[in-house]
Amino acid sequence: MKKTGKLMVILGLCLMLTGCTDSTQKSAEPQLLLGFSQLGSESSWRIGNTRDIEEKADEYGISLMMENANQKQENQIAALRRFIAYQVDVIAFSPIVEEGWDHVLEEARRAGIPVVLVDRTIRSEKDDLYVCLIGADFYQEGVSAAEYLLRKADRLGKDELHIVEITGTEDSTPMRQRHAGFMDRIAGDRRMQVLESVNGDFLKSRGAECMRYLLEKYGDEIDVIYSHNDEMTLGALPEIEKAGFEPGKDMVIISIDGGQEAIDILKAGKINCIVECTPMLGSTLMETALALKAGKQVKKETHPVEKVFSDEQDLSQIEPRGY
Ligand code: AHR
Repeated sequence: MKKTGKLMVILGLCLMLTGCTDSTQKSAEPQLLLGFSQLGSESSWRIGNTRDIEEKADEYGISLMMENANQKQENQIAALRRFIAYQVDVIAFSPIVEEGWDHVLEEARRAGIPVVLVDRTIRSEKDDLYVCLIGADFYQEGVSAAEYLLRKADRLGKDELHIVEITGTEDSTPMRQRHAGFMDRIAGDRRMQVLESVNGDFLKSRGAECMRYLLEKYGDEIDVIYSHNDEMTLGALPEIEKAGFEPGKDMVIISIDGGQEAIDILKAGKINCIVECTPMLGSTLMETALALKAGKQVKKETHPVEKVFSDEQDLSQIEPRGY
């Protein structure tokens, strides 16, 4: 199909699809057509990530077909099939879970469309189903969270610390790797006692539910809460206060992401440590898509540089977060 024909089809499709963003009006001659399937809107991280990708597509003059899967893998698979049917130049997506992508990615490969994974990865026997991954090193994030806790334990001088973990979406990359990195790093330190890991699905409401359950079961036995994202931490904090404890003092709170609301709470002393996970992946995605269109080789994995913010530092220096 000729470029103009292809664009007309995409414009028509954009009018038909809910949640599809069209940036073609802003750029007279888009350099390429990028289909992006976002997994949902579960957190301010995710909303910031969606906004960043839309803004960067605009800046780079790339025509973007964005679809939001509302937390359902079947919606993502359907979106990928629509991108294949409309012959976009590059497909990118953030897989909600790691398994179950082989068929649709083989279809993309047969159609000759390169696939870029953004934020999360997939599991497959085949290693040629996607060209590259742009996203955080989640294992390192878990290690960084554990290393903060080991230093905090030294400062507190306690013989034992009882830890509860609130994890993200079952079978997702950040859930698996943040858990593994943390557990591997604390293994062998006798002070670290994990009471239980519960699944909070990266949602604020589930974070609150998990916290109520954990407080009912363990009460003041809990010394440390390791939460896989800010959203669940924001849900858990009021429950801790309602139960009569002071978060950040009676219980050590460790979170991941670094959105503005959580950073403000860290500054107020109710969170002790936040391991950064940046949602600002848009520029790297656009540059990668342009390189692929030009037939260039790209790096198999790109991880953004990330920081750790904690009560060990001068927190007044943190720049506005933008998400
Ligand atoms: O995959 C990144 C994670 O997903 C972020 O930590 C979380 O907030 C989001 O929902």
